[in-house]
Amino acid sequence: MTGELSPIDKAKFVAAKRAAQYVESGMRVGLGTGSTAAWLVKCLGEMVQNEGLRIKGVPTSTRTAQLAREVGIEVISLDEAKWLDVTIDGADEFDRNLNLIKGGGGAHLQEKIVATASDQMIVIADVSKSVETLGAFPLPLEVIPFGWQTTKTIVEEALIGMDVMGRDVSLRMNGDRPFITDEGNHILDLHLNRIGNARQLSLVLNQIPGVVENGLFIDICDAVVIGYGDGRVEVRDINAGSVEESKFDFLENDNLFTDISD
Ligand code: A5P
Repeated sequence: MTGELSPIDKAKFVAAKRAAQYVESGMRVGLGTGSTAAWLVKCLGEMVQNEGLRIKGVPTSTRTAQLAREVGIEVISLDEAKWLDVTIDGADEFDRNLNLIKGGGGAHLQEKIVATASDQMIVIADVSKSVETLGAFPLPLEVIPFGWQTTKTIVEEALIGMDVMGRDVSLRMNGDRPFITDEGNHILDLHLNRIGNARQLSLVLNQIPGVVENGLFIDICDAVVIGYGDGRVEVRDINAGSVEESKFDFLENDNLFTDISD
């Protein structure tokens, strides 16, 4: 399944494989978006096909919906599911309180709705996503296309009063055109370098007309599963206050990871 992987992909894969252990038959599962979440979807697909796992998946993007169907996961909408047992997703940054920046792939609106409608949100990431303070990664802000330049100006003005270290705002592009989200909106990337008060910033940004949702996930994530290129996995659970370590071993013969911690 893994083939010849780079250390970073090995890290993403083992994080996904460990997080898949949170999923049991009968669950409704939120499926995140991004390169790490794609590993999770593949792991779950393998469990559906080979281990008889029965789940209903709620994808957070058209990309994830397509992949989930390809690997054999039953896909339903959030409104059909109503509430989810667990959502597993990647992140662009996480801090020690498990507050996150998400939206590097432009899917944070659906991701935040789905994660908020879940008993648990588990983040899967390689260790490069761990930060002392959020903000080095540009904060994505989904805005409606109508009047987006005016919205951008108001966002820039609002940032003057915020505890941040940079205030550049750029429109995310896809080639020579603005990037369009699944909801038909644009993304402004806020280059803040350091966010002093993420909770306050999130509230202020979401009050601006034209802003649909920002990429700060505050008090939403319950646990982060951190993968390393050598197969080690660390699970930090904010509710239990626990840190658990395990290791997956890379088998040279068949290029598969196997959990040797049990
Ligand atoms: C998608 O919009 C994002 O929130 C992703 O979850 C985030 O960017 C992490 O993506 P990678 O796993 O590809 O780094």
